[in-house]
This record gives sequence, C-alpha cells and structure tokens, in this order.
Amino acid sequence: MKKVEFAHTHKKMNRLGFGSWQLGNTEFWGYMSMEDAVKLVQHAISKGINFFDTAPGYAAGMSETILGMAIKDRRDQVIISTKFGHTADGETDFSVFSLRQQVSESLERLQTDYLDSLLLHNPGFDILEGKTLHVQELKKLKEEGLIKAFGVSIDTKEELDTVLEHLEVDVIEILFNVFFQDVKDSFKKAHDLGISLIAKVPLDSGWLTGKYDEFSEFEGIRMRWDDETIERRASLVKKLKAITKANDLTPYAIQFVLSFKEITAVIPGIKTIEQLEDHLSYAAGEIDEKVKQAFIDLYENEIKDNPLPW
Ligand SMILES: NC(=O)c1ccc[n+]([C@@H]2O[C@H](COP(=O)([O-])OP(=O)(O)OC[C@H]3O[C@@H](n4cnc5c(N)ncnc54)[C@H](OP(=O)(O)O)[C@@H]3O)[C@@H](O)[C@H]2O)c1
Repeated sequence: MKKVEFAHTHKKMNRLGFGSWQLGNTEFWGYMSMEDAVKLVQHAISKGINFFDTAPGYAAGMSETILGMAIKDRRDQVIISTKFGHTADGETDFSVFSLRQQVSESLERLQTDYLDSLLLHNPGFDILEGKTLHVQELKKLKEEGLIKAFGVSIDTKEELDTVLEHLEVDVIEILFNVFFQDVKDSFKKAHDLGISLIAKVPLDSGWLTGKYDEFSEFEGIRMRWDDETIERRASLVKKLKAITKANDLTPYAIQFVLSFKEITAVIPGIKTIEQLEDHLSYAAGEIDEKVKQAFIDLYENEIKDNPLPW
C-alpha cells in the first residue's frame, strides 16, 4: 500500500494504521491477553503497518504499555501517536502545567524517549480556540525533541473548523466514516494547511462491518446505544447492503475513508490477527465511484439533518 509522509517528520507511514484502544482493554472491548496483544502489534509491524494510535486512558495505561513491549526492538520502524488530557488513572487533566509530566509517563509506558505525535484528547473549546498556552508549551516539547509533531483528536465539524481557524497543529484525528460525513467538507482546508488527517472510528465501532443487526446485544463501551439507536443503525446497514449487494461491508467502509485523498491514514480498532489480515487486503483495494456516491447520497438524505449519536 502507498506510503505517505507523516506530519512533516520525514517518516513514511502506511495509510492503514492501527487503532490501539482495544489492546488489553477487557472492560470496554472484551478480553485480550497481554501476550496476544503484543503478538498482534508485532504481526501488524511485520506486515508493514507502522502507525499506532493510543492514549494513556486506553485500558488504564495498558494500551501504551503493550505497545511499548511490542515496539521495544523496532522503535525506528514505527510512528507512535499518543494523547494528553485523560490520564491512565482515569482523571481528566488538561492543565498546561501537567503536559510535561503526562508526556513523561507516556514515554515510560511506551519504553521510548520520544513521541512521534502527541494529540490533545478531545479538549474543550477554550483550547481549540487558541485561548490557552497549550500550543506554546507543545512547541517547546517539540524543540526539545520529546515530541515530533502535535495536534488534537476531535469529533465534530464545529470542532474541526474551530481548530483550522485558530490553532497551529501538525495532526488532526477526526471521527469520519460513512455515517459521520459532515467533516469531509473541511478536509481541503486541512490538507492545504499541510495537516495530517487521521480518520478514527472508520467502522462506526463495528456497525459498518455489516455484522450487527437490530437483535445484536452489546457489552462494554458499546452499551451506550439505546434500542432506538440500534434499530436506526440496523436499518441504515441494510440500505448499505442493498447498495453494495454484499454482507461484509468492511472493505467498503475502509475504502470509502481512504478514497478521500486528504486523509493521511485510517485507524480501525483491531482485535485479532484475522481482522488485521482483512484490513490489509481491503486497504489495498479501491471503492467503486458509484458505490461511494451512493454512500454520500445516503448520508445526505437520511443522516445529515438527523445525525446519529456516536
Ligand atoms: N477520542 C478519541 O481520540 C478516539 C475515540 C474513538 C476511537 N479512537 C481511536 O480510533 C480507533 C478506531 O476506533 P474504534 O475502535 O472506536 O472503532 P472502529 O474502528 O470503527 O471499530 C472497531 C471494532 O470493529 C470491529 N472490527 C474491526 N475490524 C474488523 C474486521 N476486519 N472484521 C469485523 N469486525 C471488525 C471490532 O469489534 P468486534 O470484533 O468486537 O465487533 C473492533 O473493536 C481506536 O482504536 C482508537 O485508537 C480515538
């Protein structure tokens, strides 16, 4: 798969990245042993995947710890992007004064002396509007070589437009998939500013694989959906299956995201070697233009004016 430069760091990355929220995250995503998680990451690296998105708050620090164990002898082969603001202890702390301390704790868990990227993890509008000293402090960390790039991880078009107007960043991680398309109108502006755009939640937390329906029951982080939301998603999934004439929507979901040239990388959350192998083969293909347009039309006609909750 085509490699692209990550955030002016001169490091080349595979456009298929690895969402690491699931690593060792029994509480939210189901059981995964440390051994299996380390093997999964090492398998991904052996297949050319080199961008890993993580955060201190994922599995109370375990996601970073697992990545650290897996990349120890392979540090120069990978791009590690972690976050700031939600700590491994489950605290929310966006104070500028704690930036250095939080970075140092991440470096320790990741067993490295630099982060390729540090993202503010869903910060408030005061930060996004540039009213705080975060960027100033992040620039210092960059000058010192502790981080190579920085940015934000955000969810909505309003947040994206605010960042593009007010904040000087290298990277923006954004919620973007077939069901959440409104952000795409701002991609060009981000691209023109030279920002690396990372697409998170590309499978709508699993719905866009096509494997769930109105009878599916959910545990962990996916217990957030009420019956009405499940029924609506199930009905939309049926419409996608009618468009594609396929039961497995995963390739279409991944290729839809990657078809936007401004997207630097897509980061599906990956739980098994089988899922990883799927993504490797899907990311190598391209979505049919007519299917892509039908997905855009479905969004415009059925979701845009009545957005789904995450
Ligand atoms: N605020 C933030 O910064 C933020 C928020 C959310 C996510 N993220 C990042 O984005 C990444 C991706 O988001 P996400 O994990 O929430 O959602 P996602 O990628 O849309 O969905 C992931 C889920 O889809 C299922 N899946 C993945 N690959 C599959 C395959 N090939 N075949 C069948 N099922 C498959 C798995 O669930 P099952 O197998 O259990 O069905 C997996 O847990 C996260 O890992 C994290 O790194 C960041």
